[in-house]
Amino acid sequence: DWSMESFIDIEVNKIREQVGDRKVLCALSGGVDSSVVAALIHRAIGDQLTCIFVDHGLLRKDEGQSVMETFSEGFNMNVIKIDAQERFLSKLEGVSDPEEKRKIIGNEFIYVFDDEADKLKDIDYLAQGTLYTDIIESGTETAQTIKSHHNVGGLPENMQFDLIEPLNTLFKDEVRALGTELGVPDHIVWRQPFPGPGLAIRVIGEITEEKLEIVRESDAILREEIKNAGLDRAIWQYFTVLPDFRSVGVMGDARTYDYTVGIRAVTSIDGMTSDWARIPHDVLERISNRIVNEVDHVNRIVYDVTSKPPSTIEWE
Ligand code: XMP
Repeated sequence: DWSMESFIDIEVNKIREQVGDRKVLCALSGGVDSSVVAALIHRAIGDQLTCIFVDHGLLRKDEGQSVMETFSEGFNMNVIKIDAQERFLSKLEGVSDPEEKRKIIGNEFIYVFDDEADKLKDIDYLAQGTLYTDIIESGTETAQTIKSHHNVGGLPENMQFDLIEPLNTLFKDEVRALGTELGVPDHIVWRQPFPGPGLAIRVIGEITEEKLEIVRESDAILREEIKNAGLDRAIWQYFTVLPDFRSVGVMGDARTYDYTVGIRAVTSIDGMTSDWARIPHDVLERISNRIVNEVDHVNRIVYDVTSKPPSTIEWE
């Protein structure tokens, strides 16, 4: 598309002119916006860009590995992966309040990022994937008062960097087109939204490694079956949640007392309102059978059939 090509040319030149021979830092989350901004800046200045990718232990199955494969290996970018699972999980131990979880994760992310940025020398710029909609919506988003929506991409305000925000005139669909033009793979360009606090807000109540494992494995099965059914672009967001209770079931001739997994799948335009997705029953059946058979400690599956409002998309 001619306009996207010329956008890239213009932005690449602007970035080169602005940065000169100095260095740029970027917080890469694996989401669409930070991935596209990293790819664009890498196109402009190559090795003068360093990305920091924080694995907080709350990512989906294989996500950390996939981000590294795409950017470190595929694009040959400088990506520093921080394995901060223990740091995050110990801070979250015993915490069950959703807003408290968000606060802890948001703060910890900043500490981890700060620690790492301090070790790097001569960084002058920080690249961020701010979109046009982020600018026009800031301050008016009513959801912010309902849930703090702490985006883990949010960074300390007192950092000594100048900001580079080359996407701040674009809408989401334009960012996807730009990403494709830059060679960012489809699984990232068309990735469903994933909250900064990650699986922490999909384990209802206190987080344990066992519970994270249940939600991570069941989510991977759900995603695989939705993709196999060809529904992955039609459904806006789809994931599993682990409520904080167990119930009775039967396996063979033995009674079980195990966890319930909830399936959440919604259609939406912007996440502000949503409807529950009408996943065909045979697809739901396959998902349910596979989760119960393949994930330990699960004996029941429920499907969330509420719209937003009155529900929210996430359960926390
Ligand atoms: P809710 O649950 O408020 O979610 O209906 C609307 C959209 O926002 C995402 N979400 C978050 N994203 N940090 C984020 O970066 C958060 O704390 C957070 N909480 C919800 C949610 O996944 C959905 O896409």
